[in-house]
Amino acid sequence: MLTNIDKRQMLVTTLALAALIVPQVAVAQTKERSGKEVVEAACGNCHVKGENGAPKIGDQKAWSNLSKRGLSGLTDSALAGIRKMPPHGANLTLTDTEIKRGISYMVNQSGGNWIEPASRTAKPVPRTGQQIVDAQCVKCHEKGTGGAPKIGDRDAWIPRLKSGLDSLVQSAVNGHGGMPPRGGAANLSDAELKDAITYMVNKGRVPESTAK
Ligand code: HEC
Ligand code: HEC
Repeated sequence: MLTNIDKRQMLVTTLALAALIVPQVAVAQTKERSGKEVVEAACGNCHVKGENGAPKIGDQKAWSNLSKRGLSGLTDSALAGIRKMPPHGANLTLTDTEIKRGISYMVNQSGGNWIEPASRTAKPVPRTGQQIVDAQCVKCHEKGTGGAPKIGDRDAWIPRLKSGLDSLVQSAVNGHGGMPPRGGAANLSDAELKDAITYMVNKGRVPESTAK
């Protein structure tokens, strides 16, 4: 039988443990590790030396055969475990995305060319205006496709700035005519759109080093 004092002591201990555990979980979720970090922390223990027949990192033949099954196929067996490969690489603090990154990293260290999956929980690193324009907006704004104001063409941009930059950003958010909402890249934030627009308006006007 537990006395009341015992029960109270247990409650205190439980609360203290919860306080210790909760912040760590929160940290683990907000800061997901890169493929390299995952492999160094978990997978490398076996996959560097090929422990128990683990495909070695750098073994092009082994990994090119494995990679034919694709990321989802390999992830399934890494999550569930297979023969001497422990479930989750024996590390339960890893998210599924981190496992996928670890696999991609090992494939890439072994002659592959996979893109490490982006996180669904962590915020992506904001891209600069120039990176966004080069990746997306150039598709139309380079040549003025469909009447898009050309990059660096001040005569085309200035009249559109009459109601201010913020309203121009809103216009790009919503899209109109041949301009698709968010320039066709739904994952761009308002701030990123603003940087991209600023870059297109200013291109060629100020030195690259100070251009936004
Ligand atoms: C305790 C050792 C060990 C650790 C730690 C480990 N692995 Fe493995 N892994 C193995 C072994 C052994 C195999 C070979 C299994 C087989 O085919 O018999 C393997 C195979 C694999 C395969 C191929 C699976 C298949 O379907 O053939 C993948 C992918 C993989 N590991 C990913 C990972 C990832 C990602 C991590 C880190 C998160 C990791 N492993 C951590 C031992 C380990
Ligand atoms: C599929 C082609 C296309 C892509 C991609 C595109 N735009 Fe446009 N954009 C247009 C066209 C066409 C217009 C002119 C629309 C009009 O005023 O009728 C335009 C106009 C704009 C305007 C002016 C809006 C206004 O109210 O005057 C802004 C700002 C703009 N785009 C920003 C961007 C940004 C930032 C990107 C990249 C993230 C981008 N666009 C990608 C076609 C495109």
